[in-house]
Amino acid sequence: MADENHKQVSVAEFFEKNRHLLGFNNPSKALLTSVKEAVDNSLDACEDANILPEIEVKIQELKKGKYRMIVEDNGPGLNRKVLEKAFGSLLFGSKFRSIGGKQGRGQQGIGISAVILYGQLTTGKPAKITSRTSNEKEAREYVMHIDVKTNEPDVLASDVKNWKKEHGTRVEVEMEGKYVSTKQSPYEFIKQTAVVNPHAKITYTDPEGKKHKFPRVVDKLPRKAKELKPHPSGVEYGLFKRMAKDTSARSTKSFLTNDFDKVGGGTANTILETAKVEGQIMPKLLSDDQLHEMHEAIKTTKIMNPSTDCLSPIGAEALAKSLESEYDLEFSKAISRNPTVYRGFPFQVEVAIGYGGELDQEGSAKLNRFSNKVPLLYEEGSCALTKGVKSITWKSYGLHNSSGSMPTGPAVIVIHIASTWVPFTSESKAAVSNYPAISKEIKLAIQEAGRSLQSYVRKKRKAGLEEEKRQKFKGYATEVAGAVAKLIAKDSYKIKKAELEKSTTKIEKSLLATAETMYSSGKELDETEEEDE
Ligand SMILES: Nc1ncnc2c1ncn2[C@@H]1O[C@H](COP(=O)(O)OP(=O)(O)OP(=O)(O)O)[C@@H](O)[C@H]1O
Ligand SMILES: [Mg+2]
Repeated sequence: MADENHKQVSVAEFFEKNRHLLGFNNPSKALLTSVKEAVDNSLDACEDANILPEIEVKIQELKKGKYRMIVEDNGPGLNRKVLEKAFGSLLFGSKFRSIGGKQGRGQQGIGISAVILYGQLTTGKPAKITSRTSNEKEAREYVMHIDVKTNEPDVLASDVKNWKKEHGTRVEVEMEGKYVSTKQSPYEFIKQTAVVNPHAKITYTDPEGKKHKFPRVVDKLPRKAKELKPHPSGVEYGLFKRMAKDTSARSTKSFLTNDFDKVGGGTANTILETAKVEGQIMPKLLSDDQLHEMHEAIKTTKIMNPSTDCLSPIGAEALAKSLESEYDLEFSKAISRNPTVYRGFPFQVEVAIGYGGELDQEGSAKLNRFSNKVPLLYEEGSCALTKGVKSITWKSYGLHNSSGSMPTGPAVIVIHIASTWVPFTSESKAAVSNYPAISKEIKLAIQEAGRSLQSYVRKKRKAGLEEEKRQKFKGYATEVAGAVAKLIAKDSYKIKKAELEKSTTKIEKSLLATAETMYSSGKELDETEEEDE
C-alpha cells in the first residue's frame, strides 16, 4: 500500500527529469531532435494518408539561446480529441495498433509531446498547434501545455483560425537551443532526409532567414508499408503466451494461421505435430507446458521469411543516387539485402559504398546512418550500424583499418535499416541496438558491397602499376632505341624490317619505329655514338 514515503510519478514527470533519454541533453542536440521529431511525424502522416508531403521548416532566433521552431505540413491533420492527446501526453500515438507493427519513423508515441515538454520546461511557454482535417470547415489553433503531474493535455485556448491550407498540421514550439552548422545541424538533417525521401518537397528557413529548397524529385509515394502480424520466428515466450490468451481465434490451429505472418495450414500442422498439441484446443485453454512445446516447435520448423512488401526500403538504386548526388565519386555500389527477422520483427539492411573522387585519401571513411529513412546524426559510437562497419577487416575490401576501428581511405558508407520496429538504444532513437541477427545482416550487407569495392580498387591498382611500368619504360626508351638504331646502322647487323615485324611484339615494334626515326634523322644517333666512345 502507498504511504507518504512512496509516490508514483507520471511518465511526463519521469521524462522531465530524464530528458537526456529523449535526446534533449544539450541545447544544439535539443534543437535538432525537435526538428527531427516534427519532420518525422509530418512524413509519416502524409505517407499514411497517401499525400505527397510538402513540409516547411523554420527556425527563428528569438534572443541568444532561445529559438522558435515551426514545422508545417500538408498532411491529413488531426481532429480535436486526437490532437489534444497526441500532442499533450506522452506515450499516446497511432503507431501501436498491432503487435507486429508497421514500418514508420515514429513508433513510441513520445516524440512530439517530448518536444512540447522540453519547450515548456526551458521557456515556460505553451506550444501552438494548428490543424485542419479535410472534412473540417476551419482550422483550429490550440495553445497547450502538458500537465506533467498527470501526463494529460492542458489546453489554454483553442480558437478557429483562418488558414489557407485545406488540410495539414502546424507545430510551433519555443525552446532553449543552440544553432550549429556542423554535421549534426538541422540543415544537415533536412538535407539527408530530402535525399532519401525524394517524394517530399521540403523548404527550410534557417535562423539567418536564408531559405533552402529541397524540391520533390519523384512524383510518386514510396510503396506503402503494410501493417504486419508478428512473424513467429523470434517471438519471445512471454509475448507468445500473451497472444494465445488474448486471441479471438477459437482453435489453436487458427490462432497460428490467423495471428502470425507466414503460417499457413501446413506450417501450423508441422508446429502442432512437433509440439504434440491438438489443433482443435481453444488457445485460452493451452497449458504452460503446451505453450512451451509450441514455442520450441516454432524454432525447429522451417517458416518462410516475412514478405518483402511489409517493408519500405530506400532501394539500392536510390541509395546509390543519393550518394552520387552528395559526392563526386569514381565508384559506387549499393545493395539491398532480403528482409529477415529479429525477435519476430522483420527488418532489412541496405548498404551503399562510394569511393575515390573528391573524398579524403588519408582520413577516416565517412559513415551516413539511416533508420526507416531517417538520418541518424548522434550517438554514432554506440550504434550497431557503426559497430558493423568497425567489425569488418577492410583490408579485404580495398580499404584499411586496425581491428575494431573505422576504415581509412577515400570512402563513404551509407547504411539503412528498415524495420517494423527498429530497436533503438534509447527513446531518443539515435542509435540502433546490437541484436545478433541485425549485426549479422549489417556485416553481410557491407561485405557484399565491399566485394565490388575490392574488385574496383584491385583493378585500379593494377592499372596504376601498369602505368608505372609504362612510365619507367618510357624513361629508358630513348636509350634502348638509340642502341637499336646503332645496330641498324652497322652493316653486319642489317635487319630485314619485314622479317622483324613478323616476329616482334608491340613494344619491340614501337622501339624499332623509334630507332628508325632516330637513324634517319641521324642526330640522336650521333649523340649516342659520341656518348658510347
Ligand atoms: N504532423 C502530424 N500530422 C498528423 N498526425 C500527427 C502529426 N504529428 C503527430 N501526429 C500524431 O500524433 C501521434 C503522436 O506523435 P509522437 O511523435 O508523439 O509519437 P509517434 O510518432 O507515434 O512515435 P515516436 O515517439 O516514435 O515519434 C502520432 O502517432 C500521430 O498519430
Ligand atoms: Mg513521432
